[in-house]
Amino acid sequence: MPQEVPNEFELRWRSRFERFGESYDSDALIAGWSASGLATRLRAFEALLGTTDGEWLDAGCGAGTYVRALYRQGAERVYGLDYSVPSLKKAKHMTPGSTLAWLAGDVRRLPFRSAVFGSVLCFGVTQALAGCEALIGELVRVTRPAGEIWIDGLNRGCLLHAGEALIGRVRQQPLRVRYESAARLRHLLLAAGCTQARIHWVPIFPQRFQRLQRLSEWMRLGRMPGFARVLSHAFLIRARKPC
Ligand SMILES: C[S@@+](CC[C@H](N)C(=O)[O-])C[C@H]1O[C@@H](n2cnc3c(N)ncnc32)[C@H](O)[C@@H]1O
Repeated sequence: MPQEVPNEFELRWRSRFERFGESYDSDALIAGWSASGLATRLRAFEALLGTTDGEWLDAGCGAGTYVRALYRQGAERVYGLDYSVPSLKKAKHMTPGSTLAWLAGDVRRLPFRSAVFGSVLCFGVTQALAGCEALIGELVRVTRPAGEIWIDGLNRGCLLHAGEALIGRVRQQPLRVRYESAARLRHLLLAAGCTQARIHWVPIFPQRFQRLQRLSEWMRLGRMPGFARVLSHAFLIRARKPC
């Protein structure tokens, strides 16, 4: 059953992100992650990342963590886009480099022509949107043929999240974050014209359980589909546009 999303949900997130951008100076806090959570996400992405050829777009770049990671890995040019101007200012300040560009904008109305980016990524955004259809349409539109689209979400199938969501509904609490179904997001990518869309599970333990985090990565828990689907806090999807 689709989750009920109140109208103010997106507005609340937008003002929260702007406040994070004004108040904090670290990548993780500007994005609203824990330091260990951001490090785990970045490791998961870098472990899967192959070639960084061509121009990249980071849609919802926050403090620019992935913009800098792509630049370090040799991407030709990287654009960081976010609707939080205070976060963009911090990102720019923290990132010297002339082959990087920062833009204010909404990920659902990207200010670019079609098929201009070699690859695009969009991390940490789906949980703050009421729905993903417009976002997926835009990410696929601006990607060149044979380019990659990377997107993540907070796993709706995670047992912990399912329990939290149930308690929230029983107590009639307003929705805090939107959990997403990895299968549904994959379906949206395929429906928008991608030929491949592979789900990767990302188990993320709280900051105080970093030993468990290391153990789960050593055991490659994320690659055990049965366990990973119900235990992973997050997932990421790597999709490709046809040639
Ligand atoms: C959780 S942070 C993630 C930042 C970074 N991508 C990362 O993964 O560390 C989400 C970012 O997306 C931005 N964002 C959320 N919704 C957006 C939208 N509709 N348009 C543009 N940016 C958006 C927020 O301002 C915030 O900087």
